[in-house]
Amino acid sequence: MPELKERKFVGKVDFIKGLEGAITHESTLSYVDGQNGKLIYRGYSIDDLCRGGGGYEETACLLLNGKLPNRRELDAFSADLAKRRAIPKEVKDLITLVAKGTHPMNTLRSAVSLLGCLDPKEFEVNVENDMRISLNLTARFATMVAAIARVRKGEPILDPDPSLGHSADFLRMMTGKKPDARTAEVMDMALIIHAEHGMNASTFSAMTVNSTLTDLYSSITAGVGALKGPLHGGANEQTLRTFLEIGDPAKVDSWFKASKEKKIKVPGFGHRVYKAYDPRARIFDPIAKEFAERTGHGHLYQIAKKLEALVVADLGGKGIFPNVDYFSGIIYNAMGIDTAIFTPIFAVPRIAGWCASILEYLPENRLFRPTSIYVGDLESEYVPIEKR
Ligand SMILES: CC(C)(COP(=O)(O)OP(=O)(O)OC[C@H]1O[C@@H](n2cnc3c(N)ncnc32)[C@H](O)[C@@H]1OP(=O)(O)O)[C@@H](O)C(=O)NCCC(=O)NCCS
Repeated sequence: MPELKERKFVGKVDFIKGLEGAITHESTLSYVDGQNGKLIYRGYSIDDLCRGGGGYEETACLLLNGKLPNRRELDAFSADLAKRRAIPKEVKDLITLVAKGTHPMNTLRSAVSLLGCLDPKEFEVNVENDMRISLNLTARFATMVAAIARVRKGEPILDPDPSLGHSADFLRMMTGKKPDARTAEVMDMALIIHAEHGMNASTFSAMTVNSTLTDLYSSITAGVGALKGPLHGGANEQTLRTFLEIGDPAKVDSWFKASKEKKIKVPGFGHRVYKAYDPRARIFDPIAKEFAERTGHGHLYQIAKKLEALVVADLGGKGIFPNVDYFSGIIYNAMGIDTAIFTPIFAVPRIAGWCASILEYLPENRLFRPTSIYVGDLESEYVPIEKR
């Protein structure tokens, strides 16, 4: 081992890996109260937005336009979104070509990229043009994810029905039948509680890319890529797979014991910000029970509750509680949706959060450019290749 030369960069800096605690900018979009387990969008709690009856459209309008719409504004926003839901033939062709052979998030990422290629104004970076793209994407994510789900099952892609609300039409385009009112209401809640969540990894990725003043489509493809990861949106798939793997409430204890021995992180638990119960998991818990029992999957809910009790007894002191991904899989599974589509369902509402974050930052844009601490050598002797 050659002796290390003295480093010239020895600035004394405190930092926590993973940018924990680092502040990017000021925002009025959402507040994640990790200590008290609350989530606020522009001043309004997600519980109120879920109960309010304005559906996903109300939340998307709130996030994108900055204020809660009145009845007339909401109707106009909903009608506009419905008109924008149709997707170009080229995107349907792409989905038809690739959706069967790859992860649905890969197809979604490629579809967003293709939408950018088809948009003659994609390179115009200003708030007005980015708002147009944002509304189109917010509307079309539902159609694209539904189309991906259909093609994966070998079924034809369905066009949107503008007479239906966003959640109901999303479910119809995915399953082929108009959902009952309760199922549409629960999908509305799912879309509301997933719409926005502060400076999470996918929002940060999308904003970082957008801070270079590239086109919005490029930024959103980065967001989709980040959301796919198992430490982020991908956890909801893992959670249901875990419940299915355990299979029987009687086997929860032995499964948890083995997972502790193997030092496996239990999917659906823990969060960088929430050190209390995730408010989104709290909303989903009773709905998971209702939907699991309604469709004969009550054992999955029992497994979830038993595992929750064990994990919280063991790790609750460290702030480890169920997160949003813990119960969502049970609900989507009861709706007859394939496990592989769970993460894309997360993307369907989060597109509004990504776009709203980007639109908010654009007028005050400054390139995101953090720094790392160089701990390598500074004066290594260059040896010609033939002498190494
Ligand atoms: C979400 C997550 C990535 C947060 O990561 P983080 O902020 O880096 O948290 P840490 O890894 O520092 O966790 C702190 C401690 O809790 C433990 N912990 C965190 N999540 C855990 C889990 N799901 N199961 C068991 N232990 C967990 C860690 O091992 C660590 O223990 P230590 O102090 O003994 O080292 C992490 O909790 C995780 O991987 N969860 C499972 C995946 C998931 O559900 N993701 C969706 C998030 S919405």
